[in-house]
Amino acid sequence: MNSLVQRQIAFNLNSSNAWEAFSSHRSQVTWLLKHDTDPSRLCILGAGNCNDLDLTTLLQSHQEIHLVDIDLDALAQGVAKQNLANQGHIHLHGGIDLTGMLDLMSHWSPKVTLSKTDIAACIDAPTHCLEQLPGPFDGVASTCLLSQLIKSIVDTIGEDHPQFVTVIQAIRLGHLRLLLKLMNPGGFGVLITDVVSSDSYPPLPTVPTQNLSQVLVQLVRQGNFFHGVNPAAIVNLFRQDPVLSKQVASLEPVGPWRWNFGPRHYAVIAVKFQKK
Ligand SMILES: C[S@@+](CC[C@H](N)C(=O)[O-])C[C@H]1O[C@@H](n2cnc3c(N)ncnc32)[C@H](O)[C@@H]1O
Repeated sequence: MNSLVQRQIAFNLNSSNAWEAFSSHRSQVTWLLKHDTDPSRLCILGAGNCNDLDLTTLLQSHQEIHLVDIDLDALAQGVAKQNLANQGHIHLHGGIDLTGMLDLMSHWSPKVTLSKTDIAACIDAPTHCLEQLPGPFDGVASTCLLSQLIKSIVDTIGEDHPQFVTVIQAIRLGHLRLLLKLMNPGGFGVLITDVVSSDSYPPLPTVPTQNLSQVLVQLVRQGNFFHGVNPAAIVNLFRQDPVLSKQVASLEPVGPWRWNFGPRHYAVIAVKFQKK
């Protein structure tokens, strides 16, 4: 198992008992993934411990729920903790690398020079998972996964690498294109991402809820946010990338809200979108 996968598993073990702390974040995420029309098939990428998903509530509006993650044990234990281990409508897809690149990336270092092929693969390789998943789906969500995909690049080539920005832009584009590839025409998508944490902005836990949007705008202006998850840049990408913009019928930014992770708090946003 490569070091990048090991890091994700360690991260999940660390937060496996955080069900209580996740409560208000879970309500927000679950509300975003509910669907009020026909019974549907929902696919959730980066479901991990499922602490941010009230699966019983989601089963009321979805006929099938497909949970996808690199870490199968986290999925299995997360579902078991919600007493849904033998629920025939929940399907686990563990061991799936949603970048399609983690083995290759684990050999990258600050000294490596990446080829055009490597960069193009960051955009295209996420689609390798399409063969392993029973898509397309009526709803597809990415739950605080994008920042982790980008963290793999921070941990390998590092922030000072001359191609760092190019690579994280490619990873982000590949992820957004994957969401749309997994969706049925008319289906809905929800990209949820943590943007900044109390590690770099310690007052975050005490910011009054009504001031959170304004504070986040200021933090983004000051460059105080995780690489690659500037909310405005994500919305612009949906609108401007030739592949994405052709497929997106509507876009709705949601949030921010706060996620109490235990050791730290995060400001989180979502973008809801519909496929033409
Ligand atoms: C921050 S956690 C999301 C929180 C999670 N939904 C929960 O409630 O515990 C990010 C998840 O993304 C998964 N992940 C990270 N990189 C991945 C990759 N390349 N492919 C698939 N899953 C990945 C991790 O294993 C982890 O479960």
